[in-house]
Amino acid sequence: MTVINSVTTLDLDGDVAVITLNSPPVNALSAPVREGLYEGFKAAGADASAKAIVLVCEGRTFIAGADIAGFGSAPVGPSLADVQVMMENSPKPVIAAIHGTALGGGLEVALCAHYRVAVPSAKVGLPEVNLGLIPGAGGTQRLPRIVGAEKALDMVTSGAHVPAKDAAAMGLVDELVEEGKLRAGAIAFARKVLAEGRPLRRVRDNDDKVAPARGHPEIFANFRKANARKFRGFMAPEHNIRAVEAAVNLPFDQGIAEERRLFEEVMASPHSAAQRYAFFAERAANKIPDVADDTQLRAVKTVGILGAGTMGGGIAISCLKGGLTVTVVEMKPEALERGLGIIRATIARDAERGTATKEQVEQRLANLKGSLDMADFKDVDLVIEAVFEDMNVKKDVFKKLDAICKPGAILASNTSYLNVDEIAAATSRPGDVIGMHFFSPANIMKLLEVVRGAKTAKDVLATVMRVGKQIGKVPVVAGVCPGFIGNRMLRKRGEQAEALVLEGADPIVIDKVFYDFGFPMGPFQMMDVVGMDVIKDQPGERSLRGAMYEAGRLGQKGIGGFYDYDANRNQTPSPEAVKIVEQFRKDKGATVRAVSEEEILDRSLLPVINEGAKVLQEGIAIRSSDIDTIWLNGYGWPVYRGGPMYYADQLGLKTVVEKLKQYQAKLGDDWKPAPLLEKLAAEGKGFADFKR
Ligand code: 3HC
Ligand code: NAI
Repeated sequence: MTVINSVTTLDLDGDVAVITLNSPPVNALSAPVREGLYEGFKAAGADASAKAIVLVCEGRTFIAGADIAGFGSAPVGPSLADVQVMMENSPKPVIAAIHGTALGGGLEVALCAHYRVAVPSAKVGLPEVNLGLIPGAGGTQRLPRIVGAEKALDMVTSGAHVPAKDAAAMGLVDELVEEGKLRAGAIAFARKVLAEGRPLRRVRDNDDKVAPARGHPEIFANFRKANARKFRGFMAPEHNIRAVEAAVNLPFDQGIAEERRLFEEVMASPHSAAQRYAFFAERAANKIPDVADDTQLRAVKTVGILGAGTMGGGIAISCLKGGLTVTVVEMKPEALERGLGIIRATIARDAERGTATKEQVEQRLANLKGSLDMADFKDVDLVIEAVFEDMNVKKDVFKKLDAICKPGAILASNTSYLNVDEIAAATSRPGDVIGMHFFSPANIMKLLEVVRGAKTAKDVLATVMRVGKQIGKVPVVAGVCPGFIGNRMLRKRGEQAEALVLEGADPIVIDKVFYDFGFPMGPFQMMDVVGMDVIKDQPGERSLRGAMYEAGRLGQKGIGGFYDYDANRNQTPSPEAVKIVEQFRKDKGATVRAVSEEEILDRSLLPVINEGAKVLQEGIAIRSSDIDTIWLNGYGWPVYRGGPMYYADQLGLKTVVEKLKQYQAKLGDDWKPAPLLEKLAAEGKGFADFKR
C-alpha cells in the first residue's frame, strides 16, 4: 500500500489499482482530498501493473460534496477540474464505488469516472440548489447527458437524494453491488470491464440523451411554469434551469463555461450566503455547550403518545416513520378511533404516493397500537403528552405518568406556552421531564423546540435531540419562558398586525407585504387557515380576530374569515370582512391614516428581532443561529433571507437600533431596543458575534 497523502492511499489488488479516500466526517473535497485524488490517479496511471482504477471512500460516505466551509478561501493545490480531467482522460478504466451519499461535487467526481457502482443503500444527487447554488464542477452538463434534460431538471432544482436503485434505473449507476462489500464488488466489476474490453465511456461525449430536447424550448418553459410557486423568490432554481438549457443547446466545453458563469453569479449572491449560513446553523443547533458529544444516551424504541388530537396524531406519524413503536392513549373510544383512523390513513397515503414502500407502510401500521388506559405506558421508553393546553390537566397527567412509567422513561410535554418546570414539579423525577414542542401539522413541519427545564438531566436532553433527528425533525434547544423561543417572538409580530390595521393598514396589503418578503402567507391568511375558533379572544380581550369569530367568520373551515373562499379554497377579498374591520376600528375609536408597505415590514419584523435579542440575552436560546433555525423551520421565514437574526445582522444592528428608537419615540417603550442589541450595535458587532 502506498500512502499518497494524509487522506489518500493507493494499493493494488491484482491488476486493479484502488484509491482510498479517508477524510472524515464526509470526505468533502478539501485541498488535501483534491491533492490526494490528483496524485492518486497520477500514480495509478503511471503504475504499469494497474489496468483499471477503482475510487472508494472510507467512513460513512463517498464524497459528500465540495467543502462548504472552505468556500470563499483562496484555492490551494490542484483544482477539482484538474482532478476531473485526469480521471476522465485516464487511459485505464476508472470506476467510482459509491456508498453513503455521493452529493454535489462528489457526484460530479463520480460522473468523471467511466463507470459507477453503488451499494443499494447509497444515494446520489446534486443538492447545490439547497445552498442557493448550482453544481459548479460539470454536474449540470454531465447529468443531462446520462438521464436526459427532464430528469436532470427535476434533480438539480429539487436537490433530491436519489436512491441507488432509482439511479441505476436512470443509468447513473451501472451496477448495484452487495451491501457491505463495496470494495470487492467494485474490483470485480473492474475485472469485468477489462475482461469484456468495455470502452472508456466519457459522459461528456454522450449526446444521445440531450439531443431530443434540442429545439424544444417548451420543455423548459413548461417546467418553469409548473414549478413557479415552488421556486418563488429563489434565485438558484432558475440558474440551475439555465445551466441544463446550456447542456442541451451548447457543445460541452461552452456549456461548462456557461455553468461556471452561472455558478459564480449565484455564489456571489446574498441568497446563497444566507442558505449556506442556514445549513451550518442547523448543524450548530445540535451542539449544547455543557452536554458532551459522547453523553451516554437512553435507548428509545417505544413511545407512548397521550392525546390523539391535532398534535398527537401528527407526532405519532413522525415517530412511526422514524421506525419507533407507538402506543396512543385517548380518553374516549370515539376520540381514539378518530385519531387512529387519521394516523392510519395518512401513513397509508405514503404508499399510494410512492414516498414509502408497501412493506414500510405495513411495518409502520403494525407498530401502532391504541389504548384507553395510561397503564399501557408502563414499559415505554418515552412519553409525549399532547393533551389540552391547561396547566391543571397537564399536572394531573404527569402525576399519573410518574406513577405508571418505568424508571428512566423520558416524560415529554408538547405544551406551546406552559411552564415545563411547573409540569416537572408534579412528578417525583423532574430530571426525566422535558418539553418536545412540535409544530402543526406535526408530521410535516420540521421544527422541534426541545425545552430544557431547570432540572432536565443532560442525558435526557441529548437523547431527545437524537430522537428528534431520528424522526426527521430539526431539533433546537430552548429554555423555559412563556412561548419558548418561536411563539414568544411570533406574539410580537401578531400584536403589530392588529395595531397596523387599527391605524389604517388593509389586512390584504399586510398579507401581501409578508408574501412578497417570502413568507408562504401573511398573518391574516394564517388566521383563516388556523381558524378563529382556535384563536378566539381570551376573557377580557377584544381583538380583531375575536370580532371575526363573533361575526361567525371562522376562516377556511367556515364561510370565510378575512377572505372569502371558493370550493377550491381560492381566496378573494371579502366585502363582509371589510365591514367587520371598519366596525372594529370604529369601536376602538381609531383614527385611520395611510400606512406604507415599508412601515408594515418594519413594524412586523423589528419587534421580532428585538424580542430575539432578549431571548438570546436571557439564555433562552443558546446562540443567535438557533433562533434563525427555529424561524426557518417552524415559521416559514424564507431561507434565502437566513432568519430574523441573520437578517438583522445584514441590515446592521446600528440601523435596527435607530429604527427601533424612532418607533419608541412615536409608539412607546415597547419599542425600546434590548440592552444586548444596543451593546452589540455600539460595538459594531452582529448577533452572530455574540458568544456566551
Ligand atoms: N462541506 C463541509 N462540511 C460538511 C459538508 C460539506 N459538503 N457536508 C457535511 N459537512 C459536515 C457537517 O457540517 C457536519 O459537521 P459537524 O459534525 O462539525 O457539525 C458533519 O459534516 C456531518 O454532517 P451531518 O450532521 O449533516 O451528517 P449526516 O450524516 O446527517 O448527513 C450529509 C450527511 C447527507 C452528507 C449532509 O451533511 C449533507 O447533506 N451535506 C451537504 C451535501 C451538499 O450539499 N453537497 C454539495 C456541496 S456544494 C458543491 O458540491 C459545489 C460543487 O458543485 C462545486
Ligand atoms: P386537541 O384538542 O386537538 O387534542 C387534544 C387531545 O387530547 C384530545 O383528543 C383529547 O381527547 C385528548 N386528551 C385530553 N386529555 C386527555 C387525557 N387525560 N388522556 C388522554 N387524552 C386526553 O389539541 P392539540 O391542538 O393537539 O394540542 C395538544 C397540545 O399540543 C396542547 O398542549 C397544545 O398547546 C400543543 N400544541 C398545539 C399546537 C397546534 O397548532 N394545535 C402546536 C404546538 C403545540
